[in-house]
Formats: sequence, C-alpha cells, structure tokens
Amino acid sequence: MNKSLKINKLINPFNKTISVEGDKSLSIRWVLLSSLSKKKSVAYNLLKSEDVFSALDCIKKLGAKVKMSKNKCNIIGVGLNYKEKKNLILNAGNSGTLGRLILGLLINYNNRIKLIGDKSLSKRDFYRVIKPLKKFGASFSPKKTLPLIMKGTNKPKSINYIENKGSAQCKTSIMLAALKSEGVTKIKAKKSRDHTEILFKYLKIPLKIKKFRKYDTIQIKGVKYIESLNYKIPGDISSCSFFIVLTILSKDSKLLIKNVNVNPSRIGIIEILKKMGASIKILNKKNYKGEKTADIFIKSSKNLKAINCPSKYNSSAIDEFLVIFLVAARSKGVSIFKNLAELNQKESPRLIWGSKVLNYMGIRTDLTKNSIKIHGNPNLMIKNNIQIKNFLKDHRVFMMSVIAALTFKTKGNWDIHDLESIKTSFPTFLKTLKKLM
Ligand code: S3P
Repeated sequence: MNKSLKINKLINPFNKTISVEGDKSLSIRWVLLSSLSKKKSVAYNLLKSEDVFSALDCIKKLGAKVKMSKNKCNIIGVGLNYKEKKNLILNAGNSGTLGRLILGLLINYNNRIKLIGDKSLSKRDFYRVIKPLKKFGASFSPKKTLPLIMKGTNKPKSINYIENKGSAQCKTSIMLAALKSEGVTKIKAKKSRDHTEILFKYLKIPLKIKKFRKYDTIQIKGVKYIESLNYKIPGDISSCSFFIVLTILSKDSKLLIKNVNVNPSRIGIIEILKKMGASIKILNKKNYKGEKTADIFIKSSKNLKAINCPSKYNSSAIDEFLVIFLVAARSKGVSIFKNLAELNQKESPRLIWGSKVLNYMGIRTDLTKNSIKIHGNPNLMIKNNIQIKNFLKDHRVFMMSVIAALTFKTKGNWDIHDLESIKTSFPTFLKTLKKLM
C-alpha cells in the first residue's frame, strides 16, 4: 500500500527530550558478526527496521539461530563457515550495507549463492565490492549489479587493496573477507566510518591501523574463531539528524536527544551545522566498547549563514546531506557542497533528488554531477502545493520532506508519498515526531 502524508501547517514550538532507535550501521554489523560466533550473542536496542530484519533473515538462511523479544535479540551463530545449501537465495531488500557486507562474509562459501534486492538496490553499484572479492578468489556473474550469483572459495587468499571511494561498506566487506582468509590483508582506505575497526578491536581480532590525514591503512590477519558479542546499541545519529534540523528551523524550540552514537566519523552534520550558526551542544560524553556516545542538545537557530562546505566532511555526513540542504535553503547566501558524486549512489540519486525538492519549494540550485550550489532564502514563502512522489521509496527523501513541510512557511499543501519507506531505517519516526506536537 502506498500511504501518503499530508501536511499544511508548521510545527508549534516545543521543548522536549527524546531518544531514537539503535544505530543502523552498528545493528547490521552486530547481526553479521554474531553469526560468526558459535556462542550466544545478545543485543539490546537493536534497530527493528527492515534493513536489520533482512540481515537477520540472511543469517538464518545461513544456519544461525535468532530469538527476538521486545528489547533484546539473541543470536547463536554458526562459526566462520556458513552452512552450505544448494541454490540458496539471500535477499538484501533495500540495504546496500547488508548486500555489500554479506558478500564479504560469503568469501569462503564454496557453492553458488544468489543475492537479490529491491528495485532501488538493484540499481546500485556492486562492482565496488566485486572487484576486491575477486582478488580473494571469488567469482561473480554479472559483475556490476543485483541480482547476482557468487561463488566463494574454500581457500581465500589475503589481498592488498586501495579503497578510494571513502566507502565504509566497501572497506568493511574487505575486512570481513580478510577474517576468513589465510595471511594478512592490507587495505589503504580513504576515510570513512570506522565502526568495524572498533568492533574488531573489541573482539580482539588481530588488527593494525595507522591513521593519516586523508586515509587509514588497515592490516587484518585471518582468524580461526570469533568471540560472541554482547552489545547495547546507542541511538542513530542519522535518525537524529531529522530532529536536529527540525529544531534548528523551528521557532522557539529546544530538544534533548539522549544516548546517541557520536563516533567522530559520523558527526559531520554537527560540525557543518555549527559552522552555519546552528546551536548544538554535545553533552554527557561517554565511551562504550570503543564507541563514543552522548546526549545532543539543540535550540532553534536564527541568522543561519551559508557554507562553502569542506569536502573533508563528506564521508562523515554522507547520509545527512538531504537535511543539511534544508538548512542551506534557510541560510543567508549561497552554500556550496562539492565532490559529492557518491550521494547519487544511495537508495535514490540523492544529490539530484535533494535539489529537486528544494526547487519544488522555490529555492534556486545549480547542480552538477558531483556538486550543488544552494541559493538560500531566510524569508522563503512556498507559494504552491508540493507533491513528493516516485523517489524509489527512499526513506531519507520522505523524512527530509516531512521536516521541510513542518518548518518552511507555505501557502500550499505538502503531499508526501511512500510513508512506509520509514520502515527501512526509522520505523518510529512519526511516533517520535508526535511526541513533539
Ligand atoms: C554505511 C556506510 C555508508 C552509508 C550507509 C551505511 C555503513 O555508505 O551511506 O548508509 O554502515 O557502512 P558508504 O560507505 O558506501 O558510503
């Protein structure tokens, strides 16, 4: 069913405390790593979204046992060798993270296995992981997109690889394959989120990391077994981002978001918005198994200014640009975001889609293949009705549009389609929003 949400008035001022669901990157990594341990792993606050359910379905098909209750998930994994079955089909649904990571884990699956995904995932690039995984000894057909057939090898050989897209999915896929390989794999990777490195360290997997300004070098030695992983998953900064921007762009409002993962490789949005004049504070910082967590306090912010956004933030804000663009639309001056071709490789071509939504609102943009200039207008009054439809059910396009509808003055109505898309990453988005109303 394609439900749509109609909005025709701004949100009233609010002063509230909320929390958001578990981090998606950590939830998927927990599921996949737990499937590699023969002992029982337990997670609290695991994100209950379709991407994570797809991950659970995949590992169940590969032999893991999963038990889910209200706030707890138990997994008893299979060890480093998944159970091989004839003609097995895995479905990664909408999740690029799951699709790319699971291929790394299948490196020693010495049987043909088919990976499929939904319409959006079937348009996305898989060559980025196929290329390194072939070096380990796997074979693939076809060689770029889903659906694809993979055949692993019973003796994966360690590799040397340069990952130059700044893709954590690609880096992690290689790291997971390296676990199951003979010898030491060496990766030179452009900076990207480092949850996998932190989890590997916590699990005492032999790992050497050297950090340089623009890239890291990572060495991983294959292992014989993996320990179980008990984990309390902190809130997802990407889910918070909608509420951070909602608060900044609303009148006379304050919001405290409790217990969020504020890993430095994920908080580009906070750094960018602070430079634009937004009032955001990180409070109560803690360390949790190598990850940083904190509460985030946000206040309505006037006199926002445009930014020439340094590309060093691109990776750490990659999932948040759609809402950052809304702040640019409200700011005085022309904002520039460059080297963002990767944004068009997401669940929908988000650089193009972000620009389109701003244009519907009456904001001028200059768009190229990898950059956008946004001509901000602090006094914008939207004159027409806006319909958001046919965006490949991209959850972040839906949520960005809801935040725009609640914060930009308009004479018309918003009609935002594909409400179900929030189930991908943030099923309680609308429930959380209602707490502020
Ligand atoms: C993710 C990495 C990012 C991000 C995605 C989740 C991960 O993708 O966009 O939502 O969990 O590793 P890339 O690493 O491909 O940029």
